[in-house]
Amino acid sequence: MNRKDFFKKAFIGGSVLLFAPTVFTACTKASDILPSGGTGTIDLTSSAYASLKNVGGYAYNGNVIIIRSSTTNYIVLSSICTHQGCTVGYDSSVKKLVCPCHGAMYNTNGTVLQGPAQSSLTQYTATVTGTTLTIK
Ligand code: FES
Repeated sequence: MNRKDFFKKAFIGGSVLLFAPTVFTACTKASDILPSGGTGTIDLTSSAYASLKNVGGYAYNGNVIIIRSSTTNYIVLSSICTHQGCTVGYDSSVKKLVCPCHGAMYNTNGTVLQGPAQSSLTQYTATVTGTTLTIK
């Protein structure tokens, strides 16, 4: 192996090691923060949820994504893609949830719009009382 080949292989190997944690983290499966039949609450005045002050804003809490759909309503869905468990992202410009791993797409009801996912995202009930959002 000459010097050029060595640096070429070292660069490729280093790149793989550099990005591996990102890829593996994105594909990690995790359980929902809400146990089956359970209830959770969030304080909407918390700075962690500042993005929810505006319609179209969204935030994550554990394995759910919370989307402010109107001035009075919130949508709460599992953020875990039903294909292989990657975390979906929300594209507010088209109001769709997109999985970065294999391209599955869901609407804001959690319904699959594009595979490879076959099952809908779990949707939770969200109610607001004062500044508290209750999810169940
Ligand atoms: S894990 Fe989401 S499309 Fe494959």
